[in-house]
Amino acid sequence: MPNSRPLNLREYAFRAKNHIAEMAWDYYSGGSDDEITLAENEAAWGRARLHYRVLTDIAERSTRTSVLGHDLSMPVMAAPTAFHKMAHEDGELATVRATTRAGTAMILSSLSTVDVEDVLKAAEGPVFFQLYMYRDRMVSHDLIRRVESAGCRAIVLTVDAPLLGNRERDERNNFALPPGITVRNLTAQTALDFSSEAGSGLSGFVHDHQDPTLNWEHVEWLRSTTDLPIVIKGLCRPDDAVRCFDCGAQAVVVSNHGGRQLDTSPATFDVLPSICEAVGDRGEVWVDGGIRRGTDVIKALAAGATATLIGRPILWGLAESGEAGVSDVWSIMQRELDRDMALCGCRSIAEITRDLLGPDSTG
Ligand code: GLV
Repeated sequence: MPNSRPLNLREYAFRAKNHIAEMAWDYYSGGSDDEITLAENEAAWGRARLHYRVLTDIAERSTRTSVLGHDLSMPVMAAPTAFHKMAHEDGELATVRATTRAGTAMILSSLSTVDVEDVLKAAEGPVFFQLYMYRDRMVSHDLIRRVESAGCRAIVLTVDAPLLGNRERDERNNFALPPGITVRNLTAQTALDFSSEAGSGLSGFVHDHQDPTLNWEHVEWLRSTTDLPIVIKGLCRPDDAVRCFDCGAQAVVVSNHGGRQLDTSPATFDVLPSICEAVGDRGEVWVDGGIRRGTDVIKALAAGATATLIGRPILWGLAESGEAGVSDVWSIMQRELDRDMALCGCRSIAEITRDLLGPDSTG
């Protein structure tokens, strides 16, 4: 009998399609415009080559690392993704249990379908909160107070979505949340079910509630209003990254929102080395976008990143079998990273250095 369980993260994606409604599949898997950046994100990791070391005795090794002072089992965390109950009825509760039990951190989306307090009660490790800026500053203010009280350990401000990218799959489907699923972390005046009779309900929501004036002053305001570490997510340029640290951020995330915002923006791996060089030791650089293999994580760290994030694969695990599926996604990632580090001749995360990308590596 052949082994029928998913062997890798891409197989999880393939299987998930059979478990969820078409509207949810299109929402999760889609990108903007022609989905060029969506495809390039994955392709760019595949293009890089790993120049492995030999004869290094890898019998004892560890994938452990630390992010914002938190010890993690591996340099891979759960990216913020919306509406987990569309993938499985246990939603973000299943995700946080499986993710923190795997020893890593979860970034909870503002668009969570479970209350932040309940997510934190179920967590066995660090949870960071992803924030959008709302037109009404008090909505952002109240949300920050709420997630601080719940026990979130950092605020991750998304800056690549002053308005929503052109997601034609969602437009075609009149994307809306299924009955019974709502967004739980917004106040009464903004909590919507994203219902839509024409076009994407999420696009309408973002237009009505998120602040299109989003600018550096918001980052300074955020710095002044919370003592939590601030992470700025969604940039692709060294000058923007450096300015985030000037404004008091502790980390940045090189990200193009999974290819869902500006299409034809660069693949994250293609810009990562120059951003890491510009940032130097001023803070942490995280990266997401198309990371599917342990080798992708090694390439990110060799380019200078502190950590990586995976988004869609978590949703695929969730769709396949809830908490057990997400746990399996983490086991696969940890196993691959451990094996690939060994094959690169690395015993620790510290031994993943730039030379692994070869003499003619990008950046
Ligand atoms: C939400 O953040 C989305 O990209 O759909």
